[in-house]
Amino acid sequence: MDDSRDMKSDDPTNGGTNFAPWVLPMVRESDFTKAFIDRILSHLKELDATRAEGPGFNKVTRLEHCLQTATLAHQAGEDEEYVVCCLIHDIGDLLAPFNHGEFAAALLEPFISEKNYWLVANHHAFQGYYYFEHIGLDKNMRDQHRGHPYFDDAITFCDKYDMPAFNPDLKYMSLKDLTPIVRRVLLAPKKSIWITQPPA
Ligand SMILES: [Fe+2]
Ligand SMILES: [Fe+2]
Repeated sequence: MDDSRDMKSDDPTNGGTNFAPWVLPMVRESDFTKAFIDRILSHLKELDATRAEGPGFNKVTRLEHCLQTATLAHQAGEDEEYVVCCLIHDIGDLLAPFNHGEFAAALLEPFISEKNYWLVANHHAFQGYYYFEHIGLDKNMRDQHRGHPYFDDAITFCDKYDMPAFNPDLKYMSLKDLTPIVRRVLLAPKKSIWITQPPA
């Protein structure tokens, strides 16, 4: 697959690569750095080669699950940052099967809020409520976080978006449909040593 065309446009909705102006110019102008969004999209496509695991979850591929999660959030009116979190929350399935939530959260951290970071990093403990009992784990593992300010938000994340996204009959947005949203969110890092003037 040739995604080099994506490097030629400045239009974020058409594969643009204009990083936010507060990113250090050396990094902002680096073709290698600019291409990181293409690498993320490319890796998401690899999730289509394997099926989700867990009781009743294997009716969709891992990519389909991610697309469905993002679609449900988009249809519910969640903002673009949240939709991207939904799309990418399981990107670590292939490379980080023992801590896939933390993996995705680290990837997204420069671009997302503290709350969304926490949701992505900890979603697996909350998702376990729906199936951990079938694999010898404590379905109430999420209770270790009870009292946390984002506890209820994590339940919502799983209940409304993650858990219902293993449905082979659910119509969902394609990765191409979601790509402009991904580019808009990932072109504006807020936290990084490569940022010279943090946005107010
Ligand atoms: Fe997950
Ligand atoms: Fe998931």
